[in-house]
Amino acid sequence: MDPPPGPRLIPGLLLLLLASCPAALAWKRDEFRNCNQTPFCKRARTRAPHSLDAPLSLDAGSLYVTPDGSLTAVLSHPSRLRPLLLRLSALPPHVVRLQIDEDYSANPPPHRRFQVPDVLLSDVEARTLHLSEPKTAGAVSTLALSSDLDVVVKHDPFELTVRRAGSGDPVLSFNSHGLFDFEPLQESKPEGETWEEHFRSHTDTRPRGPQSITFDVSFHGADFVYGLPEHGSTSLALRPTRGPGVEESEPYRLFNLDVFEYLHESPFGLYGSIPFMIAHGDGASSGFFWLNAAEMQIDVLAPGWDGATSTENGRIDTLWMAEAGVVDAFFFVGSEPKDVIKQYISVTGKPSMPQQFAVAYHQCRWNYRDEEDVAGVDSGFDEHDIPYDVLWLDIEHTDGKRYFTWDHSAFPNPEEMQRKISDKGRKMVTIVDPHIKRDSSFHLHEEATAKGYYVKDAGGKDFDGWCWPGASSYPDMLNPEIREWWVDKFSYQSYKGSTPMLYIWNDMNEPSVFNGPEVTMPRDAIHYGDVEHRELHNAYGYYFHMATADGLLKRGEGKDRPFVLSRAFFAGSQRYGAVWTGDNSADWDHLKSSIPMVLTLGLTGMTFSGADVGGFFGNPEPDLLVRWYQVGAFYPFFRGHAHHDTKRREPWLFGERRTALMREAIHMRYSLLPYYYTLFREASLTGVPVMRPLWLEFPDDKETYNNGEAFMVGPSLLAQGIYEDGQKSVSVYLPGKELWYDLRDGSPYKGSVSHKLEVAEDSIPSFQRAGTIVPRKDRFRRSSTQMVDDPYTLVIALNSSSAAEGELYVDDGKSYDFEQGAFIHRRFVFADNKSKEGYC
Ligand SMILES: *[C@@H]1O[C@H](CO)[C@@H](O)[C@H](O)[C@H]1NC(C)=O
Ligand SMILES: *[C@@H]1O[C@H](CO)[C@@H](O)[C@H](O)[C@H]1NC(C)=O
Repeated sequence: MDPPPGPRLIPGLLLLLLASCPAALAWKRDEFRNCNQTPFCKRARTRAPHSLDAPLSLDAGSLYVTPDGSLTAVLSHPSRLRPLLLRLSALPPHVVRLQIDEDYSANPPPHRRFQVPDVLLSDVEARTLHLSEPKTAGAVSTLALSSDLDVVVKHDPFELTVRRAGSGDPVLSFNSHGLFDFEPLQESKPEGETWEEHFRSHTDTRPRGPQSITFDVSFHGADFVYGLPEHGSTSLALRPTRGPGVEESEPYRLFNLDVFEYLHESPFGLYGSIPFMIAHGDGASSGFFWLNAAEMQIDVLAPGWDGATSTENGRIDTLWMAEAGVVDAFFFVGSEPKDVIKQYISVTGKPSMPQQFAVAYHQCRWNYRDEEDVAGVDSGFDEHDIPYDVLWLDIEHTDGKRYFTWDHSAFPNPEEMQRKISDKGRKMVTIVDPHIKRDSSFHLHEEATAKGYYVKDAGGKDFDGWCWPGASSYPDMLNPEIREWWVDKFSYQSYKGSTPMLYIWNDMNEPSVFNGPEVTMPRDAIHYGDVEHRELHNAYGYYFHMATADGLLKRGEGKDRPFVLSRAFFAGSQRYGAVWTGDNSADWDHLKSSIPMVLTLGLTGMTFSGADVGGFFGNPEPDLLVRWYQVGAFYPFFRGHAHHDTKRREPWLFGERRTALMREAIHMRYSLLPYYYTLFREASLTGVPVMRPLWLEFPDDKETYNNGEAFMVGPSLLAQGIYEDGQKSVSVYLPGKELWYDLRDGSPYKGSVSHKLEVAEDSIPSFQRAGTIVPRKDRFRRSSTQMVDDPYTLVIALNSSSAAEGELYVDDGKSYDFEQGAFIHRRFVFADNKSKEGYC
């Protein structure tokens, strides 16, 4: 949903502006800070390499392997208040962790720096390897981590390099450009200095002073870097943000924001943040993750950025800057791209396994007005023979934007309404946002106030901001006790009118505050444990999503897999449910950027994601809507959604031909549900996403490295969107040596070739790879639950050795019984003209 209600007060004028120049006029650039308006970013970015007069050095005498097996050392910096403590540890397989914080034993500051809790898996420490003593020669210490991996630590200036032990080839290095800086917390504000910062009409009191951290990380043997959601982009690879040839120089910003009508092409931060980058090049991949929830800005530096005339071949330098927090960084050594994802998942957790219905098609709109409207939409799908599984209700279903309530005139019988939908095997979703209406007659507000459960403002009062209900306060989800309280709000007893077939949508959880700085909460607001909002900001939505998912889990007595869609996210959100790419627009560019955006989410753990089909803002041209269904039917999360002020766009409103085309796209998704569900199973075990960039399957094929228009669904299917109105032909690159078969008619196409294809009206180019078996269910039903007993169809595409293989995973589609072994996971092999079945 969009934030500032401003433009909606003058809809006529807004439409006029949109018609003339959508992106430039709609996005309020001034509302958001750029790097130059962000002092820590500006400072860090203007510093030249190796320019600190007294560089950071490691005190060799302090090197020590602790009883828990990690290496510690003191880093000193003559001009800094306190020395820094370094801890280096390793996790199998091929993960190196670097932690740096201040040594608080001398001159303790009034507050310690914040380390984000609850994101790393609880057994990360227990899995830490026992390191052997480092070998020190001169000013260099070498640490063997495993038979094929070591870490070289240079003492002065401090620099760390992770290498492949056999070849000695560097993989990742830290501070090799001497850009590391760490602003220590001060005991008090020095006389005459001001710590306040101003942006537009807002003042950030910054009572704890400067505390930013900066460092450089280099990826060796890399052609491209990827990751760092969330940004609007039509490029899959992250483009350089600084250096020769870079025109508009802004770093990638990670700061969760409710951006009204975002640009499809911009490094500015959107609703979620995952500070994880993957590098890939010829023959190897690696990754880097910085666990830090403060505002972060990251530069991808173009070769020559430092004035050097020659750069090591295939090295990509990056600069990481955060406003607060500590260094808790993970180096992932790969070497295959899927290994890097698995290594990231090994510290942040596996994606949760969704219920079967959640993988099917969702129908949403702001708003389905009342029970009659709901019934009409529901039967509209049946009348037009279009399957769907979930009907969604946006904010207007509540009593005055008080979540967990119903507008009783529009929805007098919510349980009855849900029962009718559920009789056809379908579900419903209602929205629950974090802003709670400040209304003394609202029990939730009364309770939260009495218990002191709201985030506090800098003055210690309950933070009071403006959101959908008007004056609102925000529960402090960092506090485990408050999360417990929130969990119970989802019980049937507490959430009146809810039934077991009702699931939840968390919107506006960046959090969105219409009158706050950059439409969010002031950075000097205070959370549990005296944590400043600036330190926690990017994880607020994560905690809210977590507490909501836990609420549904508890409601179902731990037996019903939760479904919660969230707009904000952070590293680890994959454990709690799905996300979507927020409030996109009904234009072709947004359709195009949805693919790199969803692929990027998948690379960084968030495999259950999708973009609003049709585009949230504006009215899609009917042909765009059709194309969007054809692309969206491949998204892991497949939902149609639309803004309040748009025309109705249920798939049967655009004439018979278009209805048929949209029906066909949705039918295709339903027939592929067994394949999708099997891929979700794989993702929940390994983190390898459902929807994949081509290079994840073809890591040696350079043609694929920056292809953000085509994508793989699992190992077997490849599709490419049509992103232009009236496009007649399209060039599609098919990787690998084997053939590809057109999904519509089975015609074969050669691999390792770019094919110029005629654009068809009835589908986007989509292919099955030779050598694969794809399980389908081809009977058309009203919803996925009605397909449970339907027969499977195995589509076998033979390769040049007349062989193929594939998998099928089946469980009850809803409970956790699969954890006790109640599932079927079969591997199919076709060879020697026979098919065989085996266990996975
Ligand atoms: C054909 O597929 C089979 C089964 O997946 C595989 O073992 C074999 O290597 C493939 N042959 C070629 C030439 O790719
Ligand atoms: C499989 O059967 C076909 C048709 O009978 C035959 O032409 C082909 O040679 C057989 N292939 C193998 C590998 O046996």
